[in-house]
Formats: sequence, C-alpha cells, structure tokens
Amino acid sequence: MGKWCSIVFSLLFFFPLFHGGIAAAAAAAKAQEGLEEWGYVEVRPKAHMFWWLYRSPYRVEDDPSKPWPIILWLQGGPGASGVGIGNFQEIGPLDSDLKPRNSTWLRKADLLFVDNPVGTGYSFVEDEELLVKTDEEAAADLTTLLEEIFNRNESLQKCPLHIVAESYGGKYAVTLALSALKAIEAGKLKLKLGGVALGDSWISPEDFVFSWGPLLKDISRFDNNGLQKSNSLALKIKQQIEQGQYVDATNSWMQLESVVTSNSNNVDFYNFLLDFGSEAITDQVDFSKGIAVKRYSTYLSSLRSSPGGVGDLGSLMNGVIKKKLKIIPENVEWEGQSENVFTKLVGDFMKPRISEVDELLAKGVNVTVYNGQLDLICATMGTEAWIEKLKWEGLLNFSSTVRTPLYCGNNTRTEGFFKSYKNLHFYWILGAGHFVPSDQPCVALNMVGAITQSPAASW
Ligand SMILES: *[C@@H]1O[C@H](CO)[C@@H](O)[C@H](O)[C@H]1NC(C)=O
Ligand SMILES: *[C@@H]1O[C@H](CO)[C@@H](O)[C@H](O)[C@H]1NC(C)=O
Ligand SMILES: *[C@@H]1O[C@H](CO)[C@@H](O)[C@H](O)[C@H]1NC(C)=O
Ligand SMILES: *[C@@H]1O[C@H](CO)[C@@H](O)[C@H](O)[C@H]1NC(C)=O
Ligand SMILES: *[C@@H]1O[C@H](CO)[C@@H](O)[C@H](O)[C@H]1NC(C)=O
Repeated sequence: MGKWCSIVFSLLFFFPLFHGGIAAAAAAAKAQEGLEEWGYVEVRPKAHMFWWLYRSPYRVEDDPSKPWPIILWLQGGPGASGVGIGNFQEIGPLDSDLKPRNSTWLRKADLLFVDNPVGTGYSFVEDEELLVKTDEEAAADLTTLLEEIFNRNESLQKCPLHIVAESYGGKYAVTLALSALKAIEAGKLKLKLGGVALGDSWISPEDFVFSWGPLLKDISRFDNNGLQKSNSLALKIKQQIEQGQYVDATNSWMQLESVVTSNSNNVDFYNFLLDFGSEAITDQVDFSKGIAVKRYSTYLSSLRSSPGGVGDLGSLMNGVIKKKLKIIPENVEWEGQSENVFTKLVGDFMKPRISEVDELLAKGVNVTVYNGQLDLICATMGTEAWIEKLKWEGLLNFSSTVRTPLYCGNNTRTEGFFKSYKNLHFYWILGAGHFVPSDQPCVALNMVGAITQSPAASW
C-alpha cells in the first residue's frame, strides 16, 4: 500500500509548475469569422481557466418558445482536456486532422469547451497549491467562469445551458449544476439552466468496481479466479468508502485495475470488446499509476481515420492551435491528461455523487443519463445500479416505464433504447464504448438534439 501512495504523491514534488506574468483577468480574443471566441478567466487569484466558445452556423430561431441551446462540455480524467479531447476528438467542428466533422454537435447547439479544473490543458495555476482538491472546488471555479461569460452577454443568457459530461466530468456536472442554481437564485449568475446530461459518468465508483467482475465473467474475459479477485478488491473498496478512507480507496481502485488487466489479458477499459492498444507495457509501476489516464487518449487516437494527418493531439494543441489562439502563455504546455490535477483530487476521486443527482431531480432539473453498451470503466451495469439507489420519488415509475428503441438515419438496425419518466431520462447506446459521440456519432447527435430540445432536432 505504501508503494501506491508514494507513486501518487511523489508527482507533486517533481513538477512544481511556474507560470509567471499573466496580468489580465479575462483576456479574450475573437476569431475573424465571429463564430468562435476564447479566453482566460482568472477564477481565483493566479488560477486561470481557459474557455473556447463556438457559435453554431446551423442556428435556427423561428420559434421564440424554442431558444437555441448552448452546451457546456465537461471532460473527465480528472485532468483531461475538454478543449483538446472533447473538441477535436469527439464533438467539435474539426477533427484532429483539422477536417470538418460531419457529426459535430454544433448542428444542434452552440458549444462551450473548458479546460477544467484549473491545471488541465491550457488552464494553469501560478502556484500548485491552487489546484482543486474536491469536486465542489471545481464547481465553484466553473460557476465563476460562467458568471464571467454569461453575465455580460444578454444574447447568451437567452440560450438554455445544458451541461453535458463524460466520465469523471459527471461528478463536476452535478456539483456545478447545484452551485450554478444557487448563484442564479442569489442573483449572481444570469443564465437559464437547461439540464444536465451524464454520459458514462463516474457517479458511483463503488457500483462501477462491483460491475467489472460479473461483466467480464459474462463475456468470457474473466474466469472464476478473476471474478473472485476482482470482487474481493471491490469489497475492500466498498469498506474503505464507507469508512471515509477515500485515498486508500483510490489506491485499491488502481490495484483493481491491475488485477482486471492481468486477469483479462489486457482488456480495454473503454471498450470491453477490444484489447488495450499496442502500447508496450515497459514499466509496471508507471503503468498502474496512469492507467485511467494514459489509456484515455490512446483509445481515441486509434480512432483517427486519416493516416499521415496532423498527428497526435499533443503536437496539434502545442503547435498550430496554440498559434491560432495567440493568448496561451509560452510556458504553458498542453497535455491531454494532467497527472497533477488527478493527484490533487485523489481524496475525492472515489466519493459518490448520487445524492447530488437526487437533489437535482427533486428540484425539477432535467437529468439525462446515457451509457455506451461496451464501456467497462463506467459500465451500464454500474450506472443502472446507482440509479436504483436514488431516493427520488419518481424512481419506481421510471423503472417500470417501457423503453423505446432508437434508430438512426435510414438504418433499420437498433442503435439504442430510450426511456423517460418526468425529469429523468436514460439512453442506452448500442455499439458504443466509453466515448459515445466518437463511437456512435449518428445516434449521439440525435440524442443531443433531443436532450437540448434543439430547434434543429430531427427525431
Ligand atoms: C452527415 O450528417 C448527416 C446528418 O447530420 C447525414 O445525413 C449524412 O449522411 C452525413 N454524411 C456523411 C458523409 O456521413
Ligand atoms: C456577446 O454577445 C454579442 C452579441 O450581443 C456577441 O457578438 C458576442 O460574441 C458575445 N460574447 C460572448 C463571449 O459570447
Ligand atoms: C425537461 O425536458 C422536457 C423534454 O424532455 C421538456 O418538455 C421540459 O420542459 C424540460 N423541463 C425543464 C424544467 O427544463
Ligand atoms: C406513478 O404512477 C402512478 C400510476 O401511473 C401514479 O398514480 C403515481 O402518481 C406516480 N407516482 C409518482 C411519484 O410519480
Ligand atoms: C433515406 O431515404 C430517403 C427516402 O428513401 C432518401 O431520399 C434519402 O436520401 C436517404 N438518406 C440517406 C442518408 O441515405
């Protein structure tokens, strides 16, 4: 155990960041086309959060009762860059070869990407101590960012904001929604919250770690030995969570990921039909440390269609994109996944956020949950398990509601299922792993049109 702890914590001392000399609180720039804007907001003194807003060229505003929506995309990790990964590898107007993405969610809404929490991607802190340690601290910074962007812009205030999250981003999404509602009620934030969507979201770590064993056994990736080892570590994690030993629980989770990897001969956590990529595992210690992390962008990179293109996301973000944006300080190097950010959140990583979902449901906020069928790390089985734990009064009726099948385009193949009761909505997306918009762009696009009640919706 001591070894695990030292791996996690040593990082803090090896990479003291120094970023000097940013004076402006909110330096903003504007692209020539007028459809893109970006900037930094100093969310706390010396803590700078980067945002990038795309206005949709597909905007329709025929009916005043159907306003054009805006989506805030929250990436996971913790420490993964939404500005890089979500934007260029999942839903933005351009892919990582800078070619137009046909399935961009701009077809349905405006898109706001952020590098959240500070320390992620282009966001930076001038003192390592300013990195957030809890989801609530991240939510407070994001609320400040929204105040900066929305309060001075009446045209934006007319767009209902939908917070759409992936993976760990789901924990920020529910804490942010509650924090934003509070700020709205207090008159500090001028925006209309449209709803929250939790894509393959790490809402209840305990339920996910208990799903891994049975799921992998069912699909022949584990035998009984693997199942037993996995379940006994999951039990240990459950006890650690119950006793509030969240750092220990994080370390056990890393241990469990190693057990899963070795007993499944290297299953891909983001799509259980696959083996984890070709990357050679040279150093077992290094590997275990970053498992959630390093695998993240590797999976998406492997989806890139065009060989000989711009290359990996890191060179893109530190090269041509950094040049275009102009305001990224020279000493800020974009990383897909910040290990420092992850490490600071180690005490919050395994905390569930089910009660926050309950609070949102009780307040009448639309909560959508969507899950890729082939995801392992945030498996549908685990998502369904935490949904069952909701105290929300509509749960029984939600459970007995019959699902509707989903299709896409002219296809007669079943692409998913949907059901909804009052303000809880659930999409099962077939054939998708962890990264639903990349794996199933057509059904994901229609889904997001429905979630945001976009005037451009096509279902
Ligand atoms: C582009 O997306 C539209 C729907 O948004 C779809 O009808 C069309 O087939 C797509 N084209 C390609 C080449 O994928
Ligand atoms: C604010 O609103 C104006 C239109 O009134 C728009 O041109 C501008 O891009 C908006 N700024 C932001 C940050 O959205
Ligand atoms: C929630 O979503 C439904 C559509 O699914 C919509 O009719 C309703 O107005 C939304 N409620 C709120 C409070 O936004
Ligand atoms: C559940 O459904 C029943 C019958 O459809 C209805 O009478 C009841 O009010 C519903 N309960 C809640 C909490 O929505
Ligand atoms: C779908 O079917 C309609 C009618 O048969 C056809 O006009 C249209 O081109 C088809 N769309 C696609 C994307 O194949």
